[in-house]
Amino acid sequence: MVLRFPGMQSPSLPQSISMLKNVPLPSFNDVLHPNEHLELIEEANERVDAFTKNRRDTIHNFVVSDFSLVGTAIQWLVENRVACGDSFLEWGSGFGVVTMLAAIEGMEAVGIEVERDLIDQSRLLADDFEIDAEFVEGSFLPEDRSVIESVVQDFENVDIDSPSAYEQLGKSIDDFDLIFAFPWPGEQEYFAAIFDQFAADGALLLTYDGRNQLRLQRRE
Ligand SMILES: C[S@@+](CC[C@H](N)C(=O)[O-])C[C@H]1O[C@@H](n2cnc3c(N)ncnc32)[C@H](O)[C@@H]1O
Repeated sequence: MVLRFPGMQSPSLPQSISMLKNVPLPSFNDVLHPNEHLELIEEANERVDAFTKNRRDTIHNFVVSDFSLVGTAIQWLVENRVACGDSFLEWGSGFGVVTMLAAIEGMEAVGIEVERDLIDQSRLLADDFEIDAEFVEGSFLPEDRSVIESVVQDFENVDIDSPSAYEQLGKSIDDFDLIFAFPWPGEQEYFAAIFDQFAADGALLLTYDGRNQLRLQRRE
């Protein structure tokens, strides 16, 4: 089934047909969280608070998602083999917690984050919990942004100037089976447009919208 983006009337989005299909997610209200998730999330929340309080310069684009909800969704995706493979990428990984939760669930997990201090915090937390996750400093946007120029220009909460992280990583967007992002309000469709343009057939985009809502889309 072929869908158009709900925001397709926006002149900024590419006018091509979208290859993204919504995939229904269950309600995760009654799910038990594994202890491994809970211990990591508790420590991460304390460190995020301390990091935010003690920093002189605010990182304006940094807010955390609901780690517990996102972790549960990833656990469900893995248990039910919804993704085509086990390669996970977080676009703008912040403190790295969602990437670490994906690693705990057995995925080969990578986070791309543009802020050096957040990369340092992510690596420290992963080391302390002995979690095998990779964090790469740079932009989640591809190096060649010409086909998504109109989308990129409309971002207000995404760094559009920093160099892409994919060369350093030795992988490209279409190498990943599941990509997670927490876009700022109003920017979800731009993330979807970039995913639509560059992800592999069958790949999944999981997004959190900041109001306890998750959305899952598959590229077909
Ligand atoms: C809303 S926060 C979400 C953090 C994390 N994903 C989470 O769920 O807690 C968005 C993050 O994206 C980062 N960011 C912004 N533009 C970026 C870019 N072009 N490439 C990589 N990271 C970026 C910000 O520094 C910030 O940490």
